[in-house]
Amino acid sequence: MKIIIPFGKPGAGKGTLIEKITEKREDWKVLSIGGVLRKAVSEGTEIGAKAKTYMDAGKLVPDEVVVGCVKDALATIQAEEVTGIILDGFPRTVSQAVAMAELGLKPDKVLVIYVSDETVIQRLSSRVECSKCKAPYSLLENLYHPKKEGICDKCGAPLVQRDDDKPETVKARLAEYKEKTEPVLNVLKEMQIPIVYTTSDADESKIEQLLS
Ligand code: AP5
Ligand code: MG
Repeated sequence: MKIIIPFGKPGAGKGTLIEKITEKREDWKVLSIGGVLRKAVSEGTEIGAKAKTYMDAGKLVPDEVVVGCVKDALATIQAEEVTGIILDGFPRTVSQAVAMAELGLKPDKVLVIYVSDETVIQRLSSRVECSKCKAPYSLLENLYHPKKEGICDKCGAPLVQRDDDKPETVKARLAEYKEKTEPVLNVLKEMQIPIVYTTSDADESKIEQLLS
């Protein structure tokens, strides 16, 4: 079973690339930490209560909460039915990278998406996502604009804005990324995990290469 980590700033296009990967590959599972945490917040669970204050402030959620979520999610994945796992949003601190290794997870590749801070701010102020399947879309007139205004192309559910996409929260998320997440890339390199640079615009043949 392969393990792939998309890596990049908030709004870099990690979720967009993941949608393209999984659209044609039902045997790939996505473990989205942000998604797991947002679900916990909306369901009002104990984990959600712990995570909410951090997420609302654009801060990273404490490592022990996140590592617990990763362990729980991995336990539900049936390894024999899965070709690959996409770890969306893990590891985001050096100590999470250490915990990843301790859990016996050895990623096959890190897919780094680079975008400027200006692009992040522009993209996140115009991002909407599906309230049901969580696919990301853009309000800008680009490739990622929904075919029908306000409706998910894939499942037809309404599109909504994410609570943490307010400009001041986006600035805080970028600052957390630079301070705590960017250094993780060097740790992953030191772990001899292959690092590949890409964009969220990757087409199917590029995606085949990325996953090989
Ligand atoms: P998470 O949900 O992972 O958010 P993030 O990393 O901030 O990333 P985003 O989902 O905002 O961006 P993306 O890269 O997926 O971009 P997208 O494809 O949507 O985490 C949220 C929070 O959870 C964190 O702040 C933290 O509190 C907590 N958390 C999560 N993991 C954690 C961890 N390990 N430890 C501690 N806390 C954790 O694209 C963005 C927009 O751009 C869309 O509108 C899209 O249509 C558009 N777009 C994409 N690509 C292009 C393109 N090529 N051209 C034009 N537009 C594009
Ligand atoms: Mg995302």
